[in-house]
Amino acid sequence: MSLPSFVKLVDVGPRDGLQNEKLPVPAAVKIELVQRLQQAGLKEIEVTSFVSPKWVPQMADNAQVMAGIERQPGVRYSVLTPNLQGFEAALKSKPDEIVVFGAASEAFSQRNINCSVQESMERFAPVVAAARAAGIYVRGAISCALGCPYEGEVAPSQVERVARLMKDIGVQHIGVADTIGVGTPLKAQRAIEAALKVYELKDLSGHFHDTYGQALANTLIALQMGVWQFDTSVAGLGGCPYAKGATGNVASEDVVYLLHGMGIATGIDLDRLIDAGQFISDFLQRPSLSRVGKALLARRSA
Ligand code: HMG
Ligand code: MG
Repeated sequence: MSLPSFVKLVDVGPRDGLQNEKLPVPAAVKIELVQRLQQAGLKEIEVTSFVSPKWVPQMADNAQVMAGIERQPGVRYSVLTPNLQGFEAALKSKPDEIVVFGAASEAFSQRNINCSVQESMERFAPVVAAARAAGIYVRGAISCALGCPYEGEVAPSQVERVARLMKDIGVQHIGVADTIGVGTPLKAQRAIEAALKVYELKDLSGHFHDTYGQALANTLIALQMGVWQFDTSVAGLGGCPYAKGATGNVASEDVVYLLHGMGIATGIDLDRLIDAGQFISDFLQRPSLSRVGKALLARRSA
């Protein structure tokens, strides 16, 4: 077993975490959340998405949020851009990184971004080219890599296919995403192995939703494969509006506890991360979904 000695986490809470909230979350709260995450030591934060406000109203304040964050040196801020319209709007906000998001399943691609997988690549290609010409790093997400809410099983070959399509258009980094949290460790391993036929380990991350409580186990098997980059969400916030019933990403606090407990460095201060989780949970008026967050808060107040 060869475990990494350092793991980089991208907190996707402000974007993936909040995009599905029914009640509007004010831009000031999103900005404060980003601030608290960077104070906790996060070096990468997925801030918002430049998608249609008709499709995802919660992200309609994208430019306001990007304008309001207090950028810290050494911290990278990413945003989702599904097409040129989104990219051009995002460019004004000067993101360090953009994310194009495709899917391993045709049905999910249609529901989420209103086009086929092949068409999505045609939309992404000019976005990737423009981003790279502007010196902006390009990440690609492969949704439904471990299962689809509409098609069910997803074969590793479908993951490999999308990874190859993304590689062909110049996407620099790939995220293997379990959108609906159905995957179990061997499925995660096979999907990652499929993506590794196309991308190097250094250019791959795991993005596991925790709907079925499997995300930490999936994270662990990925770690054992040498994967050292993961998307996580503070307080376990999140879900995709086009994947009904899917809950949040694995909680950042839980992953940090797992990693530190295994002697793996993250550069993150768990106590301050728990404070960030508490801040957003208080605003949303519901308990954090992080088990570690709850446990350590209970210990604090004991
Ligand atoms: P479309 O309707 O096919 O686009 O939507 P269109 O080009 O035909 O344009 C239709 C209308 O949308 C026009 O407005 C455009 O101006 C507008 P109208 O003339 O009707 O007033 N429009 C836009 N407005 C703002 N920003 C844009 C934009 N593009 C078009 N970028 C589109 C295609 C992709 C835009 C739409 O399907 C969409 O916005 N989908 C949102 C999907 C989304 O945000 N899903 C959640 C994020 S992905 C995720 O959570 C998964 C991930 O976490 C990994 C995982 O867990 O799997 C990343
Ligand atoms: Mg997601």
